[in-house]
Amino acid sequence: MSNESLANLLKEERRFAPPADLAANANVTAEAYEQAAADRLGFWAEQARRLSWAKEPTKTLDWSNPPFAKWFEDGQLNVAYNCVDRHVEAGNGDRVAIHFEGEPGDSRSITYAELKDEVSRAANALLELGVRKGDRVAIYMPMIPETAIAMLASARIGAAHSVVFGGFSADALATRIKDADAKVVITADGGYRRGQPSALKPAVDDAVAKAAGTVEHVLVVRRTGQDVAFDAERDVWWDELVGRQSAEHTPEAFDAEHPLFILYTSGTTGKPKGILHTSGGYLTQTAYTHWAVFDLKPETDVYWCTADVGWVTGHSYIVYGPLANGATQVMYEGTPDTPHQGRFWEIVEKYRVSILYTAPTAIRTFMKWGDDIPAQFDLTSLRVLGSVGEPINPEAWVWYRKNIGADRTPVVDTWWQTETGAMMISPLPGVTETKPGSAQRPLPGISATVVDDEANEVPDGGGGYLVLTEPWPSMLRTIWGDDQRFLDTYWSRFEGKYFAGDGAKKDDDGDIWLLGRVDDVMLVSGHNISTTEVESALVSHPAVAEAAVVGAADDTTGQAIVAFVILRGSAAEDEKLVAELRDHVGATLGPIAKPKRVLPVAELPKTRSGKIMRRLLRDVAENRQLGDVTTLTDSTVMTLIQSKLPSSS
Ligand code: WT7
Repeated sequence: MSNESLANLLKEERRFAPPADLAANANVTAEAYEQAAADRLGFWAEQARRLSWAKEPTKTLDWSNPPFAKWFEDGQLNVAYNCVDRHVEAGNGDRVAIHFEGEPGDSRSITYAELKDEVSRAANALLELGVRKGDRVAIYMPMIPETAIAMLASARIGAAHSVVFGGFSADALATRIKDADAKVVITADGGYRRGQPSALKPAVDDAVAKAAGTVEHVLVVRRTGQDVAFDAERDVWWDELVGRQSAEHTPEAFDAEHPLFILYTSGTTGKPKGILHTSGGYLTQTAYTHWAVFDLKPETDVYWCTADVGWVTGHSYIVYGPLANGATQVMYEGTPDTPHQGRFWEIVEKYRVSILYTAPTAIRTFMKWGDDIPAQFDLTSLRVLGSVGEPINPEAWVWYRKNIGADRTPVVDTWWQTETGAMMISPLPGVTETKPGSAQRPLPGISATVVDDEANEVPDGGGGYLVLTEPWPSMLRTIWGDDQRFLDTYWSRFEGKYFAGDGAKKDDDGDIWLLGRVDDVMLVSGHNISTTEVESALVSHPAVAEAAVVGAADDTTGQAIVAFVILRGSAAEDEKLVAELRDHVGATLGPIAKPKRVLPVAELPKTRSGKIMRRLLRDVAENRQLGDVTTLTDSTVMTLIQSKLPSSS
């Protein structure tokens, strides 16, 4: 991919200054960038002091054996103590930690004092089941407070957790249990999904049998009350075992580099990678970024991250970052359209949510449902809006700010990965003049840039690959059990630099724009064009709600651009509109980016974390047999799409 041919087409000129009142009282000012640039390690050593250490670290970074980093190596701490007990000791035990909102409408609020008791009881229960420091605990749960409690209880006794998203199959769970050699699985009878109880326990029974031998006990939370098979030797009910434990548990301090959790990346190809995160550095960066990027005021803010705890966003920005900061947050069990399409906004109104963190896929869905839905609710409590998970199209960004944020709240587009553990590139709400569609600038203490094929940094205005050029506290330490794969995947493409796998460009101000995974860049007549930019151009047309673009093999141009679009309710699907959409892309990005075909469809294939599976659309566009569809939320979507296509192009 050469600089000048890499996609650099989109021109987005809209700018939004930070609100004056927010800027005047912001947690972080522009000075933080200077301070961190002058002394990066000193900056992180200072951030580590946000935590309560049983033994203060004297060393910040050991990078003597790169890329195997050690942060705050001689420090000792207990992560659960930092997330729970210390807030109670500081006199904030009555503050609500979690406002839980169940899908069927049940709700409960848990204070920090109550959370401390519950986490202590659960820690004692795990000890009774024989779990010890250094063991692994698998967690396969719905979005309920016990999920966070289970994670914190594992952390409290020094066992690493491996949370497996509750929507994954028994096979996926079995592979992960086996790879991590988990001793105990924590699950529930089921959870609520789209108005129905949805079982979890049968998948655990199946997975434990398949994983053959490693699991000694299964701890089962009663959530739905549905019937489950029960193995009297192996299975225990949470309410019975945890319920009878003492609420006293003295946390032990562990080394800063003690494993905290393993989280498997969904990975579109190959065996899932067990990303390993450790304690002190991870908690330092999740706490700092949650406080800085959301301008968190723990005494007054109500924070809500809509992700599932099964993804890294839930680990870092539902459990560890917010709780380390003593924040009050909302946790919601269900889907955004149950029982109605205003459910999210009803929750924002009910709890007076002030900081909302969600994903572009959700935002585009809300756009499709219509502006009139959020308009029915009081959203005036909101003051900062966040986005994460994939590049956000400028139109979706502007819609979010206007319709959810009353054209007043900053939008922070946060780039990071399971592997980075915490946010890396993002605007700061009290500092940055934001640009719709750009994550903009590495956070203080983070070094990121864009390089070309030869690892040379591209000048402003150039495009290439996103790399991280210095180690950061919450970086993955390795792939569980596979150091070689860790080296090959992230550290071998560019000598001494972390390869993120994302295409990116720098604009004329040096701000960074993410262009999607490099596998999603198309090569058309010798030009590299990013799927993200063509999709954003399509979404900027009033008839289009959502778009997914792929490069399909083409005899004349190498690859041809094929676009799948979901139209907005009122748009008529006809040849005239298709021609208009092609022209619109041509006019926005230039004739080279004009799609060869535009196909209106009812749905797009997405993974359970909301990422579009372009690989499958490429199969369709090239008239191939479909590849693996097991990680799709809904595999019937592909049948629908295929039925719309002419049998040959
Ligand atoms: C990939 C990481 C980070 C938590 C959720 C996803 C894409 C993520 C952005 C953003 C553009 C983004 C990248 C990245 N991504 N956030 N703000 N702008 N792209 O974690 O499943 O590990 O996926 O998500 O492609 O590499 P993940």
